[in-house]
Amino acid sequence: MSNESAAVYLPPSDLNPWEGNPRVNDHVVDKVALSIERFNFGAPILARREDMMVIAGHTRLKAALKLGLEQVPVRLLDLTISEAKALALADNKLSEEAQWSAAVDDVLRDLDMEEINLEGLGWSDDELAQILEENEAPDTSFGESDVDYDQLPEEVEAITEPGEVVKLGNHTLYCGDCIEVMKGLEDNSVDSIVTDPPYGIGFMSGSIDWDCEVPGEEFAAEAFRVLKPGGHLIAFAACRTVHRLMVNVEDAGFEIRDLISWLQWQGFPKSLDVSKAIDKHYGLLKHEGAGMLDVTTGVMTLRPHTKPSEYSHPKPKHPEAKHWSGWGTALKPAQEPAVLARKPLEGTVADNVLKWGTGGLNIDGCRIPYGDISWPGPQDADLSNHGEVGRWPANIYHCPKPSRSEREKGCEELPTKTGAEAVNRKAGSKGMDNPRAGAGRTAEEVKNIHPTVKPTNLMRWLVRLVTPKDGIILEPFCGSGTTLLAAELEGFNCTAIEREPKYCDIIRARFGGMNG
Ligand SMILES: C[S@@+](CC[C@H](N)C(=O)[O-])C[C@H]1O[C@@H](n2cnc3c(N)ncnc32)[C@H](O)[C@@H]1O
Repeated sequence: MSNESAAVYLPPSDLNPWEGNPRVNDHVVDKVALSIERFNFGAPILARREDMMVIAGHTRLKAALKLGLEQVPVRLLDLTISEAKALALADNKLSEEAQWSAAVDDVLRDLDMEEINLEGLGWSDDELAQILEENEAPDTSFGESDVDYDQLPEEVEAITEPGEVVKLGNHTLYCGDCIEVMKGLEDNSVDSIVTDPPYGIGFMSGSIDWDCEVPGEEFAAEAFRVLKPGGHLIAFAACRTVHRLMVNVEDAGFEIRDLISWLQWQGFPKSLDVSKAIDKHYGLLKHEGAGMLDVTTGVMTLRPHTKPSEYSHPKPKHPEAKHWSGWGTALKPAQEPAVLARKPLEGTVADNVLKWGTGGLNIDGCRIPYGDISWPGPQDADLSNHGEVGRWPANIYHCPKPSRSEREKGCEELPTKTGAEAVNRKAGSKGMDNPRAGAGRTAEEVKNIHPTVKPTNLMRWLVRLVTPKDGIILEPFCGSGTTLLAAELEGFNCTAIEREPKYCDIIRARFGGMNG
C-alpha cells in the first residue's frame, strides 16, 4: 500500500462524467443529495487521473452539483480506459439502487473482447452467457464483408518492409511467410520451436483473415527439418482444431509427447439456449431490440441489464421447448491447448543430449513454487515432505490473459487506432455490433492492435521448459512478439517470423519497450 492520500478535494467542474456510463442513476440523485447533506461523503468519487473521467460516483457528483458544493472528495487512479470501465462495472454492481441501461450489454461484450477479466464484476456465468449468447443463425457474414473500404481511415504505413530482416539484440525477426523463411534455415539448426500459430477459427470472425487454418503439412515438414533431433515443438491451437495440428505434426515424423493446457478461466460461455431456439423455431418468441418478445402474450423480457434478481428468462412455451429447458450448446471456454511434440532422438536420451543438447525437459527450471497461482490444483497444507523445490511441472499452466498495459508496453510511439480501425471495421457498421469483430473493437485507442496476444509469463515458462541454455528458439508465427520477449527475458536467442509488417512494427516496439 502506498502512503498517498486516499482522496483530494477538487471542484466538481474538474471532473468529466463517463459519457457511455450505462448506469441509470438520475432517479436516486435526490436521495444521494439528502444523504450527503446528512452524512457528508461516505466515499470519494473515483476518477482517472489522466483525463479526470469519473469511474464511480456519478450520482454523488450530480448530487454535489445539485447541492452547489464547491469541492468534492476525489480519489485519482492510474488506470487504462478499459480497466476504469471494468472497475466502474464492479463498483456499480455492488449497489443495487440504480438500474442498468441496455448499454451495459455492450460494455460487457467489449470488455470480453478486449480480454479484460469479467470475473469478479458481479455477473454470473449464466448472466454473461445470456449477454454473450451465440447467434442462433449461422454466421452468414463468412466470406462476405460489411466493411466499407472507401470509408475506412487510411491504413498507416508500417515501418517494417515485407522481406525485411531486423536484428533485435540477440534475436532475428523476419518479416515474411514462415514457410519461405524456414526454407532458408539449415537442417537441425534450432533447439526448440515454441509457437502460437493460427487456430483455424478465423472463419468465425471475418476480421482475422490469417486465422483460417492450423499450420499444415508443409509447415510441419519444415519444422521437422530445422529442429535438432530430440528437439521439442510446442504449438498452440483451439480446442476444436488441435486434432488437425496434431495429425499434421505427427505425420511429419514428430512424436506426440503431451498436450499442455493453458488455463485462463476467462472465456465466457457463448451458448445458445436450446429451449428458446425451439420457441423461436415455432415463431413463439422473437428477438426485439435488446430483449425477447413473447409473441403469444406480447410480453418483452429484457436481457439482464436489469438487476439479476429482477431478470427472468422467458418461460418456455412449446411442449418441446419445455422439454429442452436448461439445455445449451457450449461450455465455458476456460483453457487453450498446446501440442508438445519431439523430433525422434538419435540413439538414447543420453546419446542425444550429449550430441545435440536436446531431448529433455527442464523440470527443475519449471517447477511451480508452492502457493503460486500457476498451479491450479489442491494446495497442500503440509509442505514438509516436498522440500523447497516446488511442484513438478504439470501439463497445465494457470495464468490470466495479459492485461492491456502488458500488451501495450513499449507501443507508446506507435500510431493510435480506434478499436474499430484495429479490427478493420467501419464504426457503426453491422459488423461492429458483432462481438466477433475482434478484440477491443470499440476501445477508444489501441496501439498493440494484435487481437490474440499471449501472456509473457506463460511463454516464458514454455520456452524455459524445452530450450537448452543459450539455445535458439524458432517462433514462426510471432504475432506481436510475446515469444520473442519471453526468449529475451529467459536469455535465449529467438528466430522470429511474422508475415504482417504492421505486427512486426509492434514486435519491434515491444522489444524496445523492455530494453528502454
Ligand atoms: C496467434 S497469432 C500470434 C500471437 C502472438 N503469440 C502474440 O502474443 O502476439 C499468429 C500470427 O501468425 C501470423 N501468420 C499467419 N500466417 C503466417 C505465415 N504463413 N507466416 C508468418 N506469419 C504468419 C499472423 O499474422 C499472426 O500475427
